Amino acid sequence: MAVIGRSGAGKSTLLKLIQGALAPTAGTVTINGLSASAWGDRMPEVISVLNQSPHLFDTTVANNIRLSRAEATDEEVLQAAEAAQLGPLIASLPKGLDTPMRETGQRFSGGERQRVALARVLLQNTPVLILDEPTVGLDPRTERELLSTVFRTTQGKSLIWVTHHLVGAEQMDEVIFMEHGQIVMRGTHVELLEKEPRYRNLYQLDRPEG
Ligand SMILES: Nc1ncnc2c1ncn2[C@@H]1O[C@H](COP(=O)(O)OP(=O)(O)OP(=O)(O)O)[C@@H](O)[C@H]1O
Ligand SMILES: [Mg+2]
Repeated sequence: MAVIGRSGAGKSTLLKLIQGALAPTAGTVTINGLSASAWGDRMPEVISVLNQSPHLFDTTVANNIRLSRAEATDEEVLQAAEAAQLGPLIASLPKGLDTPMRETGQRFSGGERQRVALARVLLQNTPVLILDEPTVGLDPRTERELLSTVFRTTQGKSLIWVTHHLVGAEQMDEVIFMEHGQIVMRGTHVELLEKEPRYRNLYQLDRPEG
């Protein structure tokens, strides 16, 4: 599902409700019948998050990936890194995955940092993944490549994707458009294109090909 809307529309608030970080003043949020806030410490087994600026620690690349599942084997960490398309980058590092991030010679680019964060999320292997504008600040090509890796590697999971761009919305089962804390449009990309002139305008404006 893609969640779109202007700044202040309520997108992050919706994500906090889903993650049980905020309790609704009206209505309910449940995951498998259990109130979202009741999941507590078990929430990381259900929902993982890829957000705008992933936090990378001053340790090895492997440790940064393993953060989501401390008991993961080296093989599992490598598999997650390769799925996130980090293979060539890691092969170029002096000690591969065991290279400290600060000794990588070059600073990781924004797209590479997001791929390390994606490897971490893939290792966490939750049924639900929240993407909170993970491509902000990336150039259009890097954005497209990262999203295509994300969509390919998370087949079968539920994705909730907050985005300012409509690029990629065609691939979602459902698009919701928020305004002033309300959902004002909701449907598949094709439905919204057909019946919502506003959506059609936004989509035209946002297409990289113009
Ligand atoms: N805990 C809160 N209590 C009351 N109002 C809040 C709270 N958190 C956020 N708001 C307000 O709710 C509105 C929606 O905020 P939210 O952060 O969900 O927007 P957003 O759609 O994520 O925006 P952006 O695209 O800038 O991230 C804003 O007007 C914000 O000031
Ligand atoms: Mg927000």
